[in-house]
Amino acid sequence: MTVSLYDRLGGYDAIAMFASRLVDQAKSDDQLGRFWANRGDDRIARELQLLIDYLVRETGGQMYYTGRQMLQAHAGMGISESDWKRFIEIVTGVAGELGVGAPEDGEVMAFLDALKSDIVNV
Ligand code: HEM
Repeated sequence: MTVSLYDRLGGYDAIAMFASRLVDQAKSDDQLGRFWANRGDDRIARELQLLIDYLVRETGGQMYYTGRQMLQAHAGMGISESDWKRFIEIVTGVAGELGVGAPEDGEVMAFLDALKSDIVNV
């Protein structure tokens, strides 16, 4: 039986923790913080929940994602190659903090790489 990436990462709680640390670090990051400037806490909480829902669905968990597609959700934000590189550094750091090992870390990176062309838009 194939065990989903969702289960191998530790299920809902592990993914929620991962997403929460990622958003916390991205929004307070010197380079990436501008994307979340002047947003209220409630809006950021809603975005975080959408990110969790999306990651649960994409990794094989049971979730109905109600947010937008990645291309639409990030269109016009001016996300550059350099922003993407910084984002990946933060993901790598959070994965390390949470003890994500091989082969899951490679699968997470491949998943993100496949989304890059929809998200980087300058
Ligand atoms: C440099 C990389 C990224 C930046 C700066 C960024 C920034 C943002 C911002 C500012 C929003 C809020 C949009 C709004 O309120 O209109 C957002 C929404 C979202 N992002 Fe990202 N993002 C990045 C990468 C990613 C990646 C890799 C994923 C998926 C794994 C992702 C998933 C989402 C989701 C699910 C939403 C909510 C969509 C919705 O509102 O319908 N983002 N992102």
